[in-house]
Amino acid sequence: MQFARVLILILVFLESAGAQTAQRGGTSAPAPQRGGAPAPARGGAASSGRVYANLGQLMKGILYPNSNVIFAAQNQNPAEVKPAQDPATATDPLASTYGKWEAVENSALALSEAASLLLVPGRRCANGRPVPLQNPDWPKFVQGLREAGMTVYKAAQSKDQDKIIDAADVLTTACANCHDKYREKTNLADRCQ
Ligand code: HEC
Repeated sequence: MQFARVLILILVFLESAGAQTAQRGGTSAPAPQRGGAPAPARGGAASSGRVYANLGQLMKGILYPNSNVIFAAQNQNPAEVKPAQDPATATDPLASTYGKWEAVENSALALSEAASLLLVPGRRCANGRPVPLQNPDWPKFVQGLREAGMTVYKAAQSKDQDKIIDAADVLTTACANCHDKYREKTNLADRCQ
């Protein structure tokens, strides 16, 4: 029992040492995958490393919360958002230290930047299918998101709520263009193809 535990520790150590070598660009072959859950795939050489989230998690972790900051600005002028009691720990960006219009600007930039994450090789959708990077329309939808983010950014810089309402429409369309083809399926197994 004790011996088995020591052996496992050694194996874990060897594997993490191997992973570090690989990340530094060492020449050693990647550690072979043992059975069980597949390890997340590494990103391509041009990307900054491995992939951690499936596409759905990326959407829920980055695209969804940042879009909501922008959509909220349609209904309430960000300049009028009351700062939270403790802005430094606020979970609503609009009421945080970096709040009001600045929060809208930063969420717009986050979306344009996050677009590139939709192109990192090795990511899978929640149903296990690879993100369909090779389909010609995928990078076009991603570019649509990038540009929509910048449209919102410019609108936020103008601090003009009418402009944000129009820009939020552009954003909704950019999300929907891709969702119509790759997400809206009765059967989740049919997504991402
Ligand atoms: C290039 C394609 C693409 C773009 C652009 C895109 N999405 Fe998605 N989104 C998807 C796909 C595909 C899924 C399903 C992912 C999965 O099941 O792993 C998804 C899933 C989601 C989910 C999780 C809900 C669910 O049904 O699984 C949310 C939330 C979401 N997207 C929000 C957004 C928002 C907001 C935008 C725009 C700011 C956006 N997405 C832009 C492709 C896209």
